[in-house]
Amino acid sequence: MTAPDASLRRTEGQSAQQPTSKRATIAVLDFGSQYTQLIARRVRESRVYCEIFPHDVTAKELEARGVVGVILSGGPASVYEPGAPRVDPQVIDGRFPVLGICYGMQLMAYELGGEVVAEGKREYGPATLEIGDPSGLFEGLGQSERAWMSHGDTVRRLPQGFHPIARTERLPLAAMSDGARRYAVQFHPEVMHTPRGAEVLRNFLYRVCGATGDWTPAAFVGEATAELRRTIGDRHAICALSGGVDSAVAATLVARAIGDRLTCVFIDTGLLRANEAEEVVATFGPRLRLVHVDAAQRFLERLAGIDDPEKKRAIIGEEFVRCFEEQARRIGAVDLLVQGTIYPDVIESRSRDSKTSARIKTHHNVGGLPEVMALEVVEPLRRLFKDEVRRVGAELGIPEDILWRHPFPGPGLAVRVLGPVTREALDTLRAADAIFLEELRAADLYRTVAQAFAVLTPVRSVGVMGDFRTYGATVALRAVTTEDFMTADWARLPYDVLARASARIVNEVPAVNRVVYDVSSKPPATIEWE
Ligand code: XMP
Repeated sequence: MTAPDASLRRTEGQSAQQPTSKRATIAVLDFGSQYTQLIARRVRESRVYCEIFPHDVTAKELEARGVVGVILSGGPASVYEPGAPRVDPQVIDGRFPVLGICYGMQLMAYELGGEVVAEGKREYGPATLEIGDPSGLFEGLGQSERAWMSHGDTVRRLPQGFHPIARTERLPLAAMSDGARRYAVQFHPEVMHTPRGAEVLRNFLYRVCGATGDWTPAAFVGEATAELRRTIGDRHAICALSGGVDSAVAATLVARAIGDRLTCVFIDTGLLRANEAEEVVATFGPRLRLVHVDAAQRFLERLAGIDDPEKKRAIIGEEFVRCFEEQARRIGAVDLLVQGTIYPDVIESRSRDSKTSARIKTHHNVGGLPEVMALEVVEPLRRLFKDEVRRVGAELGIPEDILWRHPFPGPGLAVRVLGPVTREALDTLRAADAIFLEELRAADLYRTVAQAFAVLTPVRSVGVMGDFRTYGATVALRAVTTEDFMTADWARLPYDVLARASARIVNEVPAVNRVVYDVSSKPPATIEWE
């Protein structure tokens, strides 16, 4: 997407924002495991602050960041492979408390003079851990515990100074310790399949690293507000409020810091769900300085006759930026742009930058603001995971139903009306969608699915109502479960919930006479239909 007139230009100096906390930090070093983010989340759930670092970060850098303990993640490599990710030897020389997990354990063993061998066969699945030394890492655990394994190589000989602290039937050296502050485990304490894994991590954090559990929403709000006040000074900021969780929390936090010097712009594209605009205005109008722009007409005019999804996205992105720029000009002297970027976005774009082959999905740029802007960007949530954003939101007094709202795509209902978008089609879709969500909430299922919505298909079919034949529209219902939205499965909704939603939709939405449920997973399908 290109900015129509780049009157707003992004500066590189994006530092004015995130509270760079001086608090004790745990460093999670990323060796490429699919579980790295999960480790970080588990640490944060234990109320200890942590950040993910590339595996080759130096001990000096970690010291400068106030790191009090290091976790080496797992990873798919083998330590003997050429190009296998390494660690700065000083990181594991004993100056920091260290916990090596899976590949992290193999790497510690190898780098510190032990021996690692390829088993020839991967071990994947549950194992029973026999704990030999219950002090430190395994304090409070039983003598035998279930643990999840996923590895190819194993440690055959421990480095000097280390002793085994647990074994399994297959692995005599399933965990090791140097008797001081360095530990390593072959299993994965971060996954749910290791039932007492959270305690293992907590033991490391609290007993070994001396963490105090000071990472709480209230502490974050306090620190972030002070930091935002300090970095923003007496400048003015603007924020595009979408009604989504992230922008709502970011805006509320910044408003708490600088009050009326933040103006929030809510652009009603006419592509929102039922009652959404009213709810946003009712919720945030009293709390924030809010400008509500009714731009439905302009969006619909520009979308008339367009059926290509990518063209729809481009038009909406462009129009959104235009509206936003107009508002910015009206407000006058604005220096900063508040965005609701969260930690997974930061991690993802970091790994995208390092993998030149990865293509940025167009939709990540759309519905937001242009890449090139003259405003300094403030991203007060860029260190938070989604669940932390919600907890911070609750701390700030944002209502539950906003905090738990499903994500909604920037282009909104335009990509859920298949084919050309018209006011009538949008009204039909909005009505069907509202009924589906209402039934999900009534069945207490809204929060168990990650995203649920209706799609208006261009398929018309024959039906019968009373004594009359109908020739009406087909609505598809979609509900998915997912952790990260990269892969997803269709939600196994109870038949009676689907039945009620379907019956109500055909009865209450005049244009619709047929309802189908989408049973495709992602991949190969995507979550949205366009
Ligand atoms: P897909 O359809 O790619 O969706 O499986 C994955 C997640 O992304 C959302 N999505 C979008 N979000 N602009 C957005 O801001 C878009 O153009 C867009 N397209 C898809 C989708 O709702 C799901 O959460």
